[in-house]
Amino acid sequence: MDRTLLGGLAPSAFLKRHWQKQPLLIRGAVRGFRDPLTLRKLMAFSRSEACEARLVISENDDYEVLFGPFSPRIFRDLPEKHWTLLVQGVNHVCREARDLLYRFAFLPYARLDDVMVSYAAPGGGVGPHFDSYDVFLLQGCGQRQWEVGTQSNLDLVPDADLRILRRFRPQGSCVLSCGDMLYLPPRFAHNGTALDSCVTYSIGFRAPTHEELKTRFLTHLDDCLHIAGQYQDPGVKPTRRPAHLDNNMITQVAAVMSRIRWNRSDVTSFLGRYLSEPKPYIVLAKQPNLDFQEFSRRARVEGIDLHPALPLLFHGKRAFINGDVLVMKSGSEQAITSLANERRLTAKQARSARRALPILHGWYGNGYVTLGNGDPK
Ligand code: SIN
Ligand code: CO
Repeated sequence: MDRTLLGGLAPSAFLKRHWQKQPLLIRGAVRGFRDPLTLRKLMAFSRSEACEARLVISENDDYEVLFGPFSPRIFRDLPEKHWTLLVQGVNHVCREARDLLYRFAFLPYARLDDVMVSYAAPGGGVGPHFDSYDVFLLQGCGQRQWEVGTQSNLDLVPDADLRILRRFRPQGSCVLSCGDMLYLPPRFAHNGTALDSCVTYSIGFRAPTHEELKTRFLTHLDDCLHIAGQYQDPGVKPTRRPAHLDNNMITQVAAVMSRIRWNRSDVTSFLGRYLSEPKPYIVLAKQPNLDFQEFSRRARVEGIDLHPALPLLFHGKRAFINGDVLVMKSGSEQAITSLANERRLTAKQARSARRALPILHGWYGNGYVTLGNGDPK
């Protein structure tokens, strides 16, 4: 890994000193960074079904938000200043943004979220706010001023379109130019203002709330758990209080509920399935029909790429993709875990992946993987 990314720090030192603790300003984090995106490209991404787009128009301290997809006409009618186009999931459609995201692969993929790219006209910004997750803000073209501060009062302006801090008390500020990067821990107040037309890449991390985890785990248990039997009361006695909830009934139902059990293995399955789901707006296109022989022949020449919006995770013998679990048969683990870690198999790797090819052929049919371009790694 290029040490400049973390300002000369090794990942271990960065994680110990800064991660989830304190911000870090890194000048020249991505050496010779050539911003690959223009407003025209971002406008095109804002119409893609693999991305999500918002347009924020600000006037004084008021922020109006419009949700994409946006037709080109909307951009023609925008003022010269004080607006921002934000596109989420740019790594799904842009190789350079994807490469940027995977520079942070010293953290588990289960924590990587996506790359959001914003294009701001001069004076544009989304207002003072805090994010609930860690973020690296890499400056593309143009310059942006960031004001930052720790504050315990994180009250938001009520009934606003955006989450704007009611009272923002910045303690410092810096101006970022192309290739500079600012790391901010969760709940750190910040406000970015475009000094000229500028592009900012936000490498965001995924941190589900406990409430979300609970809800999704209960749904998972509901899907997996079957409790046989049905309520019965052969010994029921006549009652003079028919509206009274009977204690025997409560005892019987409590005994049924106590059969809802889970262990660490259930939590592993749940987490793998949940974290391997793509974003809800991603549609996986089925691939053209290719029989197994032809798929294997081409895979050995072209290599195999994972769908850019699809996480592939593993734990022990279990692999998780698209919210599903697969128990890896012996002989297939190496290829599948390499595909998961590197997000592609080279032609050479595919040639020694004989046992995994039938699985990968099925994944190809489902649109989870595509045939690659055979680039040597
Ligand atoms: C932006 O790129 O305009 C907003 C990024 C952020 O503040 O998190
Ligand atoms: Co933010």
